[in-house]
Amino acid sequence: MLWTIFLLLNGLLLLVLLYATRTRQKNEPPLDKGVLPWLGHALEFGKDAAKFLARMKDRHGDIFTVRVAGHYVTVLLDPNSFDAVMNDTIFLDFTISRNQLLKRIFSLQLPSIKPAAERKWMEQHFQGLSLSKLNSSMNTHLQNLLQSDQKDCSPSEWRQDGLFSLCYSLLFRAGYLTLFERRDNAAAVYSEFRKFDHLLTKLARSSLNRGEGKTANLSRERLWELLSPNWLSEGSESKSWQQSYHRFLHEEGVDAEMQKRALLLQLWTTQCNAGPAAFWLLGFLLTHPEAMKAVKSEIRGLTLRDTSVQHPPINLLEAHSTPVLDSVLSETLRLTAAVMINREVVQDKILHMANGQEYHLRQGDKVCLFPFLSPQMDPQIYQEPQIFKYDRFLNDDMTVKDKFYKEGKRLKYYTMPWGAGRNICVGKEFAVTAIKQFVFLLLTHLDLELCDPEAKLPPANPSRYGFGMLQPDGDLQVRYRLKKTHR
Ligand code: HEM
Ligand SMILES: *[C@@H]1O[C@H](CO)[C@@H](O)[C@H](O)[C@H]1NC(C)=O
Ligand SMILES: *[C@@H]1O[C@H](CO)[C@@H](O)[C@H](O)[C@H]1NC(C)=O
Ligand SMILES: *[C@@H]1O[C@H](CO)[C@@H](O)[C@H](O)[C@H]1NC(C)=O
Repeated sequence: MLWTIFLLLNGLLLLVLLYATRTRQKNEPPLDKGVLPWLGHALEFGKDAAKFLARMKDRHGDIFTVRVAGHYVTVLLDPNSFDAVMNDTIFLDFTISRNQLLKRIFSLQLPSIKPAAERKWMEQHFQGLSLSKLNSSMNTHLQNLLQSDQKDCSPSEWRQDGLFSLCYSLLFRAGYLTLFERRDNAAAVYSEFRKFDHLLTKLARSSLNRGEGKTANLSRERLWELLSPNWLSEGSESKSWQQSYHRFLHEEGVDAEMQKRALLLQLWTTQCNAGPAAFWLLGFLLTHPEAMKAVKSEIRGLTLRDTSVQHPPINLLEAHSTPVLDSVLSETLRLTAAVMINREVVQDKILHMANGQEYHLRQGDKVCLFPFLSPQMDPQIYQEPQIFKYDRFLNDDMTVKDKFYKEGKRLKYYTMPWGAGRNICVGKEFAVTAIKQFVFLLLTHLDLELCDPEAKLPPANPSRYGFGMLQPDGDLQVRYRLKKTHR
C-alpha cells in the first residue's frame, strides 16, 4: 500500500515536472502557464472565463496559450482569423472534446456516429419543409400554455413571478411539446431539467462534490425515464422526429441504452437556449423604456395592418418584417450568447492569421475561439459594447445593419450567437421564430411590468461562459395579467 502511494506520488511529481518544463518556442503564441503546477489557470477559467480571458487579451493580444488543468489551450480572439481554425478538418478535430463532454455531462457514448451523417439528419428535421410544421406547432403550444397557466386565478388579478422562470418555463414546455412525443409530463420534465441544468457546468468541469454528484446522477436517470416514449402502448403509425432519431442511431450502431440517453442530449440542445434568450430580450425591453416603446409601436403597426383579430400571430410575423424586433434580438444575443468553439490539434499545424503572422500549434494542444470577447464585446467594433442599444443592428432606412469593421477591415463574423461554419446551430431559424412568437404573444396578450420600476437586470452567472446562452444570477421580478381584450 505504502509502495503504491509512493509510486503514485512519484508519477505525479514527474508529470508536474514534465508539464512545468514547457517553454515557448520560436513562432509559438505567447505562453501563460499560471502559477499553480498542472492546474495552471483552471480555477480562474472555471470561475469567470470572460473576465480571465479579457485579462489575458490585455496582456498578450489576440492569440495566446494558457495552461488549464494539464491542457494547453491556444485562445484565438481575432474574428478575421476564425476561418483558419473553423475550416480546418485535417489538423484540427472537434469530435474528441465533444465526446469527452458527452460522457461527462450526459454519461453518453456515441463514438461510432459520423458527424456529417448526424448533421444531415438534423437538417432534415429542423429545416426546410419540417420548419413550417414546427413553426405552427410551437405557436399553438405557446398560446395554449399561456391560456391554461392563467386558468386557476381570476382573469383581472395580477400575478407575480421571476421573469426568468416565466420565460424559461413557457418556452421549454412549448418546445418540449413540439419536439418530444410524451404529452403528459412537460411540467415534470421541465422541473427535473432545471435541477440538472443547474449542475451542468460543474458536470462539464468534473468539479461536483459527492452530494452534487449524487443529485446529478439521480436527476439524469429520472430524465432518461421521463423522456422514454411509450411506443408499445400507443399505436405508432406516425413517423415522428423521435422515432426517426432512434432509427438513425440504430443504423449508426448505437445500442438501446445509449439511444435512451441520447434523448437527454437532444433535450438540452433544443431547449436550453431559447428560454434564457427570451428572458434577456424582455428584460432589456422592460429596463429600457425607449426600446420597449419602439417594439410596441412596431407590433401595433402589424396588428393595425391586419384587422382580423382571428389571425394567429404567426401569420402576422410571417407576412411582415419586424426590423426593430430583429435588431433587439441581435443586440440581446450579442450581449448574452457566449459559445466557445473548441478544437483539438491532431497534427502540428501552422496557423495563418489574417494580418499575415504565422504561429505554430503543437499536436495535443487545444484551440479555443471565444466570440463573446471578440467580436461581440470588442470596443474596436462596437462603441460602448457593454451597453444595450436596441437599434445597433438597424440602418437609418430600417434595413438590417450588417457592416461592421475592425481595424478598417469589414468583418464576416461580427456576432456569433449561433456558432459558425459546419457546426452552426441547426435550429437557428426555428429558434428565431419561436422567440419572436413568444415576445409577440406576451406583449399582445399580457399587461407585463416590473414589480419595482427602478429594478436593474441581474448580472450573468459567470460560470456559464462557454455554454451557450448565459443565465442570470438571480431573477427580475415582474407582475402580469391577461389584457382585457383576451380575458
Ligand atoms: C437562442 C437560441 C439558440 C442559440 C443561441 C443556439 C446556439 C447554438 C450553438 C452556438 C450551437 C453550436 C454548438 C457547437 O459549437 O457545437 C448550436 C447547435 C445546435 N442547435 Fe442551437 N441554439 C439555439 C436554439 C436552438 C433550438 C430551438 C434548437 C431546436 C431545434 C436548436 C438545435 C440545435 C442543434 C440540433 C444543434 C447541433 C448542431 C450540430 O451539432 O451540428 N438550437 N446551437
Ligand atoms: C473558409 O470557408 C469558407 C466557406 O467555405 C470560405 O468562404 C472562406 O474563404 C474559407 N476561409 C479560409 C481562410 O480558408
Ligand atoms: C416560420 O416562421 C417565420 C416567422 O414567423 C417565417 O419567417 C418563416 O418563413 C417560417 N418558416 C416556414 C418554413 O414556414
Ligand atoms: C455517478 O455516476 C457515474 C457513472 O455514471 C459514477 O462514475 C459516479 O461515481 C456517480 N457519482 C456518484 C456521486 O454517485
